[in-house]
Amino acid sequence: MKRTLTFLAVLAALSTACSLPAYGADAAIAARVQALVQQMTLEEKVGQLNQVVASGLTGPESAESKNVDKRAAIKAGQVGSVLTVKSVRETRELQQLAMQSRLKIPLLFALDVIHGFKNVFPVPLGEAASWDMQAIEHSARIAATEAAASGVHWTFAPMVDIARDPRWGRVMEGAGEDAFLGSAIARARVKGFQGKGLGQLDSVMATAKHFAGYGAALAGRDYQAVDMSLQQLHEVYLPPFKAAVEAGVASFMNSFNTLNGIPATGNAMLQKDILRQQWGFDGIIISDWQSVAEMVRHGFAADLGDAAARAINAGNNIDMEGYAYSGNLARLVREGKVSQGTLDAAVGYVLTKKFELGLFDDPYRYSDAAREQAVLNDPSHRAATRDVARKSMVLLKNDNDALPLTKQVRSIALIGPLADARRDLEGAWTVYSDPEHVVSLADGLRGHVAKGSRVTVTQGCDIACTDTRGFAAAVKAVRAADVVVLALGEGFDYTGEARSYTSIDLPGRQAQLFEQVRAAAHAAGKPVVLVMLAGRPLIFADAAAKADAVLYAWLPGTEGGNAMADVLFGDYNPSGKLPITIPRSLGQVPIFYSYLNTGRPVPEVEALYGSAYRDSPNTPLYAFGHGLSYTSFKYDNLQLSSTRLSGNDKLTVSFDLHNSGKRAGEEVVQLYLRDPVASIARPVKELKGFRKLSLEPGRSERVSFEIDRDLLSFHHADLKWGAEAGRFELMIGSASDDIRLEANFELAD
Ligand code: GLC
Repeated sequence: MKRTLTFLAVLAALSTACSLPAYGADAAIAARVQALVQQMTLEEKVGQLNQVVASGLTGPESAESKNVDKRAAIKAGQVGSVLTVKSVRETRELQQLAMQSRLKIPLLFALDVIHGFKNVFPVPLGEAASWDMQAIEHSARIAATEAAASGVHWTFAPMVDIARDPRWGRVMEGAGEDAFLGSAIARARVKGFQGKGLGQLDSVMATAKHFAGYGAALAGRDYQAVDMSLQQLHEVYLPPFKAAVEAGVASFMNSFNTLNGIPATGNAMLQKDILRQQWGFDGIIISDWQSVAEMVRHGFAADLGDAAARAINAGNNIDMEGYAYSGNLARLVREGKVSQGTLDAAVGYVLTKKFELGLFDDPYRYSDAAREQAVLNDPSHRAATRDVARKSMVLLKNDNDALPLTKQVRSIALIGPLADARRDLEGAWTVYSDPEHVVSLADGLRGHVAKGSRVTVTQGCDIACTDTRGFAAAVKAVRAADVVVLALGEGFDYTGEARSYTSIDLPGRQAQLFEQVRAAAHAAGKPVVLVMLAGRPLIFADAAAKADAVLYAWLPGTEGGNAMADVLFGDYNPSGKLPITIPRSLGQVPIFYSYLNTGRPVPEVEALYGSAYRDSPNTPLYAFGHGLSYTSFKYDNLQLSSTRLSGNDKLTVSFDLHNSGKRAGEEVVQLYLRDPVASIARPVKELKGFRKLSLEPGRSERVSFEIDRDLLSFHHADLKWGAEAGRFELMIGSASDDIRLEANFELAD
């Protein structure tokens, strides 16, 4: 609210001066922006809206990109920002070129700092499984500190796309299937990246991406069309973006996809009506890689010039590596197809950020080699990756307390293509990949077992696992071992951008490797622990059914091997919960916990005519919010402050959480609500609160949540936001399919 008031005050002050809307919340900066814009030529203004890539491509290289002399363009003031730079040396050199331009407008340097910089944290979907907002914020804080110390001003993160189709490889980059959890994580990541505010030397501009609906790509195929009701868009896919705006995010990136036929990059409803007008966003809006130019291929623009006009007129400020603006915008303004005001407004958003970062006062303030070395080698950063990784791992199954393992175990047979993997543990979207810097699972186990204990490593096959000649050695390794740990799953480049698959089974013949090893182990009475390493939910129902224990470790980053060993040996009691459903089969996709009841729910309606499959239960293999612990928790003494909520009252629900096991542990208690009768069908449950608590054995804590009208509100069929009177069901549980306490209450008119 404060920001908006200041923004309006500045707007009023400047509205008399010129056509330019004010920027940011600082009147002094707005005035400096105003003065600078008035000095700029048309070409210099267009230059500020042109972002070019430095070296590492993160998308297809265009002909224009190959032909442009980027260094000359920077010197001529025709480039406003550069992406994929990642060192003081590189940023200092490019900034020196920009200082040779007529107005010496400094460059912004951008980079995809997605889950760490030099020290790599778990992939974002793994971090989301921690449900630990402090840990997630801390992870982004460290990534920002390292990036800013290396000359980077701007990260293209957090990715906040809700995703419910694990065929889509970018599910790895987000926070899973749920709007409430996704919104909390969006806030945490923006706060982590931006810290105490722009201009701080350990903060970077964050970017909420990809706006919007990108995670709902048809058939899980990246870049594909997205078609959904506006009610679904507002109810499920937009909340994390709105949360990012409320957290003060500095920029937005629109998305490659069409939304109901209109490319997001040229979508005025998204960028002007919702983002600028309704949400009051006053930061930069940038396209995705060449997504301005791609509107021609979408069939939404006749040519590059038409694409440039449609994009900027729909609210897109910067053209990333597309050369649509640089090649056409000046002409479009001269022809009146783009107004001077539209151009100046876009330039103003960019210049405001450069002033807020202090770059006009000192263009090199982030490019300090001594600080870069000190920060990148801070040992606390590496330690933090291990802490966040341990918290992200989800214990899916633990029959007969197969875990934790004892460190005095005589011999462990570690088997599988990820047994001694290092680079793969980092996942995709890493800045520096230094496998020697990474701790493998084999390293971690060997570092934990007692002196004299053995850990043998047998890969059995590579990750693709098409060659089974190594299976015999893997089965042989079982004989000499007391316990078998299988490390299966995906390589680092199986998830991320442009990584859609029609099959998300264990790759190749990994499932057969599991079965041969498992059969030999169980025949010899030896327990089998399955460690899954992946950036997405995989289909592994058979293996899950037959393993004694299953740990989903995601792709856990630099200290992944130590973090996995910490959990496997019980040095850390696993506390992760699934942020996304794990299906039994791909045929169930899309599958998520907050589904509608249908008119023929089973088993209420006989299966013959019920909403069910003939060949599978409707339930997933593992549900949203599921995750076990080495201890146990009891929930009781549920109380409501009232069973009737009216006006702007708040209703408090409280209960006791009790650690009924023998060791300390953390539990993520989850509050779900249901509106059983409403003007549109509402989900059978929706997450509306959660808390991660740590309890010593035998200890209890009274936990409470506040419920108000806002928490009961939703977007009606006409998109109006509000709650509707009537009965509500309240559920408190350890998972969406593990409800421990229930109650009803009324919302009066
Ligand atoms: C890529 C991605 C986007 C990334 C950008 C710059 O295509 O879609 O997430 O930030 O280009 O690398």
